[in-house]
Amino acid sequence: MNYKTIFCLLIIATMISCNSNNSSGPDSQVDEWWKEEIVYQIYPRSFKDSNGDGVGDLKGIIEKLDYIQSLGVTAVWLNPIYSSPNDDNGYDVSDYRNIMKDFGTMKDFDLLLEGLHERGLKLIMDIVVNHSSDEHKWFKQSRSSRTNPYRDYYHWWPAEKGKPNYRYSLFDEKGEAWKYDKKTDAYYLHYFSQKQPDLNWSNPKLRQEVYDIMKFWAQKGVDGFRLDAFQFAAKDTSFPPFPEGFEKNFINYYAMQEGIHDYLKEMNKEVFSQYKVMSVAEGAGRNFEDAHNLVDAERKELNMAYAFDGVDLAKYEGYDFHRFKKIFTQWDSAFEKKGWISIFLANHDQARMVSRFGNDKAMYREVSAKMLNTFILTMRGTPYCYYGDELGMTNSTFKGIEDFRDIAAINGYKKAKSKGEDMDYFMDKLRFESRDNGRTPMQWNSNNQSGFSTGKPWLPVNTNHKVVNVDQQLNDPFSVLQHFKNLTAMRKNNPGLVHGKYKILTPNHAEIYAYTREHEGKKYLILLNFSESIVKIQLPEIKKIKQTLINNYPIMDHQKDVMVLDAYQATVHLLQ
Ligand code: NOJ
Repeated sequence: MNYKTIFCLLIIATMISCNSNNSSGPDSQVDEWWKEEIVYQIYPRSFKDSNGDGVGDLKGIIEKLDYIQSLGVTAVWLNPIYSSPNDDNGYDVSDYRNIMKDFGTMKDFDLLLEGLHERGLKLIMDIVVNHSSDEHKWFKQSRSSRTNPYRDYYHWWPAEKGKPNYRYSLFDEKGEAWKYDKKTDAYYLHYFSQKQPDLNWSNPKLRQEVYDIMKFWAQKGVDGFRLDAFQFAAKDTSFPPFPEGFEKNFINYYAMQEGIHDYLKEMNKEVFSQYKVMSVAEGAGRNFEDAHNLVDAERKELNMAYAFDGVDLAKYEGYDFHRFKKIFTQWDSAFEKKGWISIFLANHDQARMVSRFGNDKAMYREVSAKMLNTFILTMRGTPYCYYGDELGMTNSTFKGIEDFRDIAAINGYKKAKSKGEDMDYFMDKLRFESRDNGRTPMQWNSNNQSGFSTGKPWLPVNTNHKVVNVDQQLNDPFSVLQHFKNLTAMRKNNPGLVHGKYKILTPNHAEIYAYTREHEGKKYLILLNFSESIVKIQLPEIKKIKQTLINNYPIMDHQKDVMVLDAYQATVHLLQ
């Protein structure tokens, strides 16, 4: 080989590597493993109690690792497991480098992480840094004197300046986000409960502390972070007045304030990019533009948004199905070219999805649960499946306010009462919408306490665990559980269901949600009946069905371009 040939070969090699560098740019699938994940969310308090104290724990999760793997999910998101006085079940952290006593020890955590990784499962940690607990050493120092070095880790308003401008608190029984603290004659800010003071992100020292905490977990090998309430982190620290009634639309005033993108870019540079961990926002800002700015890969902030409009839709009064379809369609098109979204219908802040979007009457519970899981696992975006939804767990049967444990429910009740609201209506609404519905213990079997605990569970087990439980479904080929496993397998075998272009076919249909997904020459048709009626639907795509991949009924009534879908029937097809 003469030097000319070598030179040419070198040029060609460089061109190839340049091209491959281009294709592994921000939008390539190489770095974007998180798009293909199927996330299983575990509320640790409620998953499995290994020591009989009535509270789920890390050893309990370890006992169930094989079960988790068997679901076909690929990653686990754990709600906060750090030391906490539990004013808001762990969303009030008193030590970010330690494990909550109720949940176990750091050794348990290391074993859990190892056990997940051995099974090819990733771990996403919840990082709660819009606020800490008032029992965190930073806050104890901060409130001790006005000149303490930690004073500026939080937001303080000296009382001699008068009362600060009103700020709304989501969990305070008076709805007040400023709390007067006698010791230093000043008010501190808490967007959530009084025991969750907001951290001051304009302080670079605080920011560095947070990045160090995140690095601590990243170095342990966690694979990602979910940023709790982080869209509220940046604040105008002059605390100007907001218009009266702003609290009805507080997101517009609290979310995505100036500075937030700088903090995220800094966090990305310091943590995410260094450790190749994935990042998911809680929320998606005030509008599509905010959402884009959060997750446009070129901006180097977060990987995926987590928009609430879909889940927020279902209330005690019902929900508008047209709007449901419109919201998911709009989010899809907003991220068609750039950015990425999470797909979910439930989490620990929501009541159970079957009771809200499906039908929890005995006759329809199973089919509607299967239908909703089919939706989540056939949309574009990363699916987040909430523990128990693979079984079709439903809302529970709370009676009086004493049955609830959630601070939002308890303080919401006090607030409504003091305002003279209609308390019968309040309670009906709470029984349906309360977050505690989504937090009842996992239903492992039909024994007392559903196999969750040998003690008294911190929140009563749903009485329907006698019929809705893992044991009962495990060997039933037609169970909700088996259907869930079939869905995860289908998604993994069909990348088109992850990356494929989405097109809605029936935006105005009153009962059916039909859409196609298309990718690299393969086209899928998804037909979902969101109602208890038997519905006939005519679509040219139906004629092109080549293979049916999933059906939540044993039969399918299909002729030419017409399909008759039974109550909550859900089918997925490959088209010619
Ligand atoms: C959002 C969390 O999901 C919720 O559970 C918590 O109460 C608030 N943030 C406050 O941390």
